[in-house]
Amino acid sequence: MAKEGARGGTMGFPALEPRGRRDHVAGGNAVRESVVILGIETSCDETAAAIVSNEGTVLSSVISSQASLHAKYGGVVPEVASRHHLELVVPVVRESLSEAETSLDDIDAVAVTQGPGLVGALLVGLSVAKAIAWSRGLPLVPVDHLQGHVASLYLEPDPVEPPFLCLLASGGHTLLLAVRARSRSERLGTTLDDAAGEAFDKGARLLGLGYPGGAALERLARGGDPDAFRFPVARLSGLDFSFSGLKTALLYTLRDLGEEEVGRRKADLAASYQTAIVSALVGRARAASKQTGLEKIAVVGGVAANATLRAELPEARFAPLELCTDNAAMIASAARYVERLPAPGYLGIDAYASVT
Ligand code: KG4
Ligand code: ZN
Repeated sequence: MAKEGARGGTMGFPALEPRGRRDHVAGGNAVRESVVILGIETSCDETAAAIVSNEGTVLSSVISSQASLHAKYGGVVPEVASRHHLELVVPVVRESLSEAETSLDDIDAVAVTQGPGLVGALLVGLSVAKAIAWSRGLPLVPVDHLQGHVASLYLEPDPVEPPFLCLLASGGHTLLLAVRARSRSERLGTTLDDAAGEAFDKGARLLGLGYPGGAALERLARGGDPDAFRFPVARLSGLDFSFSGLKTALLYTLRDLGEEEVGRRKADLAASYQTAIVSALVGRARAASKQTGLEKIAVVGGVAANATLRAELPEARFAPLELCTDNAAMIASAARYVERLPAPGYLGIDAYASVT
């Protein structure tokens, strides 16, 4: 049986026709190569573009991170992010085409993140995507950023097939999803306050590490004792998360210890704090898996890059490391299961800031 969604027509949408510039001869027969999608992602502080085939092969994935520009403010400054997206988006798209050894002539659809995210940042990507689609007579595919993270699992060479229980843990969101098919999922739980990545970032900030702090906190934690301090894991009924109490607990612990002791025990503090976040994620993911009967667990989003989380949930499938944090390959991947909009209808679509 053909893999679900392997061709544009399987999800009930009309199949995209390849534009016919990529014909080559194999074994004496002219073989038409796959449809290719240009993906653009500008929802936060990564300007990214990627070229992905309809079969899910990543032909290129270019990411320009602005993180170091925002580091001195301790977080992303929306206005600064928008301005940098404006400067970077065209060179990044050009580089994605050149790395894939292709040109706009070969592109069959333009996929772009519509939300959730910073509206000013999203509008840069959306405007560029509309301009490219309009000037080339291509369909536009507006993609939800969270569906994009899930679709990072559907890329070659080792895609994860639904049904599965998905833990999405990023800087902006922490969700448990029952993924029934590539185009169909339902939300089981979310965070009531901070996202898991945000908890990492806030903890890292309190420990004097830079922004974004998840990876830095993980590095510091490697030399520490995860049992040295007991940080509370919120006990909520159901499948929701809460991380804001954890950050406050760290703040009070640092205050009580005093500067000198904190300096000596930083690695222990980082390891214990990380353990509290990871055990909340692992506990809820396993509970959701049990509750739904979805035995396969998959983990996506920036926090999925965390080695302790990977070690503590060995039965789960994790998105490839390079696809955990924001990228455009996942956006192009998700576009394969979203309705394509013809011109001129897409010209009127707007970005959205929050989860719909
Ligand atoms: O998915 P992502 O790139 O952006 C959002 O959609 O939010 O996730 C970024 C988040 C940041 O909070 C960052 O600190 C966290 O993912 N992160 C990590 C690690 N790498 C990135 N958290 C823990 N351990 C890591 N190794
Ligand atoms: Zn993201």
